[in-house]
Amino acid sequence: MHTGETITQFIIEEQRNSPSASGDFTALLNDVVVACKAIANCVQQGALVGGVLGSAGSENIQGETQKKLDILSNDIFLKANQWGGHLAAMASEEMDDVYPIPPQYPKGKYLLTFDPLDGSSNIDINLSVGSIFSILRCPEGVEDAKAEDFLQPGTEQVCGGFTLYGPSTMLVLTTGNGVNGFTLDHNVGEFILTHPNMTIPEDTAEFAINMSNQRHWEEPMKRYVDECIAGTSGDRDKDFNMRWVASMVAEVYRILTRGGIFMYPKDTRDPSKPGKLRLMYEANPMGFIVEQAGGICSTGRERIMEIQPNGLHQRVPVILGSKNEVERVISYHKDA
Ligand code: AHG
Ligand code: MN
Ligand code: MN
Repeated sequence: MHTGETITQFIIEEQRNSPSASGDFTALLNDVVVACKAIANCVQQGALVGGVLGSAGSENIQGETQKKLDILSNDIFLKANQWGGHLAAMASEEMDDVYPIPPQYPKGKYLLTFDPLDGSSNIDINLSVGSIFSILRCPEGVEDAKAEDFLQPGTEQVCGGFTLYGPSTMLVLTTGNGVNGFTLDHNVGEFILTHPNMTIPEDTAEFAINMSNQRHWEEPMKRYVDECIAGTSGDRDKDFNMRWVASMVAEVYRILTRGGIFMYPKDTRDPSKPGKLRLMYEANPMGFIVEQAGGICSTGRERIMEIQPNGLHQRVPVILGSKNEVERVISYHKDA
């Protein structure tokens, strides 16, 4: 048994360093952690219980087929976080509109956004999935938080985090003081601090992109990936390795562990979608974590965290990871 620092202890100690903190944020984060543990449990049960594997037969607002576990995880997030009195409202990738706090519960000063289950296409094939979340402050004086109250740039985030339901269950968190990783000890039922102060190496020889979309990319992206593939026989002085898990949580975790670059760039498949990943539920919290770990998160043209959101479900191109590689991709966009 690991007897290290639990995530609860970690959050409370962080709170003590901030004299103005009321404990509200600590309590909210505890509720988020409970949701993540419950989802981890469902993921682990797999086919042993009904309602985990397979399609739900419905679509979300973005036209994506929902898996049973997408909906189950969404419900778990709502139930775990609606009662505590810390939130003014929630918003999720799987819900069309803002979720108001039900009238029987007190309201609080924070807003929570989440991707309850990231990497859904991996559920039925028993590969890694995860959850991503972001906490914002509700604007002063707002009684009933609406979509527009969520539309704050990522630089305003109070917290960004994700879990990875992989061979072990991990939770990675930032509140703006670096990045820490916790491993779920199933025997104790607690996340234990196992990866303090995670940092992303500045250089890497590993890239991650869905190559099947290559013909739809813009020129700077084609140039960068062509050069990676050409390796020592091209303009770059090194050979590259490639990974594509199709779960952003797993890719970002890998990058936090050994470096790398992850790209879901703009492509021309559907002009109404300037990228696949969602700003509020995926790109902003991941951007916060990556930057806090010393990496960069960009669209290729601008810093993700500085984008002024124009809609809850807005999509953006995402290029993140090891500083020197992301800077190179940005410079190729400038050249073009
Ligand atoms: P989600 O399961 O929440 O819809 O997100 C999946 C995302 C991301 O995690 C992953 O990197 C990417 O979509 C995979 O997309 P492709 O299937 O196009 O490779
Ligand atoms: Mn996702
Ligand atoms: Mn999802």
